[in-house]
Amino acid sequence: MTKTALITGAASGLGYEFSKLLANDGHNLILIDIDADNLKKVRVELEKSYDIAVKLLVKDLSQPNVAAEIKDALDDQVIDVLINNAGFGLFGSFHNTDWKRELDMLHLHIITSTHLTKLILDDMVSRNSGKILNISSLAAFQPGPLMAIYYASKSYLLSFSEAIANELKGTGVTVTVLCPGPTKTAFQQVVSEQAADESSENKIDFNMASSSEVAEYGYKAMLKGKTVAIPGILNKFLASLHRFVTRGAAANIVRRVQEKNRTE
Ligand SMILES: NC(=O)c1ccc[n+]([C@@H]2O[C@H](COP(=O)([O-])OP(=O)(O)OC[C@H]3O[C@@H](n4cnc5c(N)ncnc54)[C@H](OP(=O)(O)O)[C@@H]3O)[C@@H](O)[C@H]2O)c1
Repeated sequence: MTKTALITGAASGLGYEFSKLLANDGHNLILIDIDADNLKKVRVELEKSYDIAVKLLVKDLSQPNVAAEIKDALDDQVIDVLINNAGFGLFGSFHNTDWKRELDMLHLHIITSTHLTKLILDDMVSRNSGKILNISSLAAFQPGPLMAIYYASKSYLLSFSEAIANELKGTGVTVTVLCPGPTKTAFQQVVSEQAADESSENKIDFNMASSSEVAEYGYKAMLKGKTVAIPGILNKFLASLHRFVTRGAAANIVRRVQEKNRTE
């Protein structure tokens, strides 16, 4: 029977790449994003290239109760794969940043991802089958001065995912958390523009991975049922920085990297 995957933030970047990988493996897709125009373009492209059905839900995933609205819209559709991918970054010192944007981020990264997982997981467990992929970040492994809420919210996603992956052992349902380093998508451009607003300069010299290679790495890890997936040897090393330096020293390093790459 044809499987169905639900992907958030599917209109661009990693979400778009996950959608192509799932389509290529014959999944019908439910794609969710706030960007209606790009979402429609993705549907046209995927339905032309693959023999699958694509349903779109245009939603602002930072709104309270949006996960329940999505569950209602699914109309008892069985979901075999859930990818909680939508997210955005916010640059600046916490005392200056916009609380409305931060509240949106906390809702999007934490509340909606958690609630959607809860609403879809129940059915997966009763069927003894299902795969969940949560998109965290390398940011999850240490405090992140100048992107404090972003780093903290990604830490939540890592911890939450690892905990439920453990609870679900033996159920046939797996949870994978992908922790990419800097990846070439609109995300990085937006964060750098925020930094440029603060410094009147925009310099980004990260050696960024492509969205297709990062998505493929995460997708394969999800298929294998791996719990934590960190693409790239340097990123794996950076994720274990806390073994070699204190968290305070790691915070200093992150701050220096943010300042150097985004504002100097
Ligand atoms: N790129 C990186 O360097 C990097 C590194 C580590 C982790 N990540 C994570 O990877 C995930 C995907 O990001 P990406 O790099 O692929 O960025 P992206 O190209 O900007 O894609 C994110 C998508 O999510 C959508 N979105 C944002 N806020 C939303 C909301 N409130 N409701 C519904 N959709 C929303 C965006 O729409 P709009 O464009 O209209 O806002 C966009 O289509 C994020 O969780 C991000 O934190 C990215």
